[in-house]
Formats: sequence, C-alpha cells, structure tokens
Amino acid sequence: MKLLVACDHGGFTLKDELLHYLKQRDDVTLINLGVDSADSVDYPAMAARLCTALLAGEGERGLLLCGTGIGISMAANRFPGIRAALCHDETTARLSREHNDANILVLGGRTTGYETARAILDIWLTTPFAGGRHLRRIQQLDLLPNKPA
Ligand code: RB5
Repeated sequence: MKLLVACDHGGFTLKDELLHYLKQRDDVTLINLGVDSADSVDYPAMAARLCTALLAGEGERGLLLCGTGIGISMAANRFPGIRAALCHDETTARLSREHNDANILVLGGRTTGYETARAILDIWLTTPFAGGRHLRRIQQLDLLPNKPA
C-alpha cells in the first residue's frame, strides 16, 4: 500500500518513530510529506498538503499526526472524499476501517504512546472495509449538508 504521511510539530516525534517501523514493512510504500523537525507549523496546512496529494491519487491512504490529533482531523475532514479517523485504541482503528472506510488514520503525538500507536497502525493498515449497509452511510457523507435520501 502507498501510504502518505504528514504531521505538525506536535506529531513529529511519534511520526518519526512510526516511520522507522513502517520502513521495515514490505507491504507499505511510504511517502513522507513532512514536517521533519519540531519547529512550529500550522496543522491545517499539513492536513491540506496530505489531503490534496491523496485526492490526486498520489497515495492510497494517509497517516496524519498533530499533538492531540484533533485539529488535524478537523482540517482533513473539510475535504470532500476524505474520511479521517482519530483513533485511540485497536477497537476504534478496526471499526474506522470496517464501518467508515477511513482513508486517513489520525494519531495524537502527545496523547498516544508508541506501542499503542503501532498496534493501532497494524490493525488499521490490514482491516478491510465491510461494505453492505456501511457503504450507503459513507455515500451519504458526501451528500452533506443536504438531508440524506
Ligand atoms: C500545536 O501546539 C497543537 O495545537 C496541535 O498539534 C494540535 O494538537 C491541534 O489540535
């Protein structure tokens, strides 16, 4: 899988640790969009960088990080076609794929430890979308703010 990765300064340390891990996996091709230092940067710009690339087909899925994961997921979900899921454990990671077909995983660099983040990532990368009734619901996301039929 071609995976785009980006963060702000609050997510930089965890992103760096996860990149080292992901480089060892044969099933993932990484595209690191930065940032690569702890210098302050605005999370909406980093979300925009990754979402624009993902929607242009430069990768199949994305991983975004900021301090809490909250700001960067808010920013990412402004882009039609993006389904960014802030996950804190293995259950939310699995369900974000099975039910929501999340195309971006969001992690909080200051709220989630490395071991938990790695477990979340492993599940998120390998869990397929369940389809069925969940397909109808994610299609309705793209119709908002109009009332779903
Ligand atoms: C940056 O200090 C911090 O606000 C940002 O990383 C993120 O946590 C925002 O939601």
